[in-house]
Amino acid sequence: MKKKLIAANWKMNGSLQANEALTRGLIAGLGAPTCEVALCVPAVYLAQMQDLLSDGTMSLGAQDISEHEAGAYTGEISTTMLREFGVRYVIVGHSERRQYHAESDALVARKVQRALAGGITPIVCVGETLAQREAGQTVEVVKRQLAAVIHANGHCISEIVVAYEPVWAIGTGKTASAEQAQQVHAVLRLQLQAATAHAERVPIVYGGSMNAANAAELLAQADIDGGLVGGASLKVQDFLSIVSCAAQ
Ligand code: PGA
Repeated sequence: MKKKLIAANWKMNGSLQANEALTRGLIAGLGAPTCEVALCVPAVYLAQMQDLLSDGTMSLGAQDISEHEAGAYTGEISTTMLREFGVRYVIVGHSERRQYHAESDALVARKVQRALAGGITPIVCVGETLAQREAGQTVEVVKRQLAAVIHANGHCISEIVVAYEPVWAIGTGKTASAEQAQQVHAVLRLQLQAATAHAERVPIVYGGSMNAANAAELLAQADIDGGLVGGASLKVQDFLSIVSCAAQ
């Protein structure tokens, strides 16, 4: 069985002081985790976090990258820059970026290409809105989002992480039931299998109000290989509980 991945998405939260307290608390409580743990932090804190994570217990992640390598792109951050800070993962295509920054499927696919070319593992987010779910379009939407990434990345697709994050479950306290999540994960797994002989290698993690109370059931599903955790990743005990569910 492959190791599960629990990735924290701190979003636009943190301060030098809060990051240090949270990270030291996690390191003290983690011991030697039997799953992979990553912290995806705001870019301005990468240097601080590289230092705090230098013992290697947890991996460092970023929350976005530019589709470009360098040049006149004010405000953007390249893969090469992230690599200088030991970044191993980058979230790409989070629904908040698709929604507030108009990121299209095509742009997300190009960012994934850029991350893979630069040796950083993209955590590619897909997920439907409530209106899309209610209209019965969940499968169509997530397949379309993943298809764009598969199309642009060919055989490299086995090097990505997929995060299924139903938009209606993000930050709302409404989690997809384990059954609802598993159904979508199974669809994504089949889609990956059609694209690569190494689909089993691709972790498909769940995100959307994952917490200490619901993590065990979600993580017990056949095709749920971990979690992308927002709100609960900002609290030491909650995040440690989720990690311990994944470590079983
Ligand atoms: P949440 O966020 O756990 O706060 O719902 C998850 C995410 O957006 O990655």
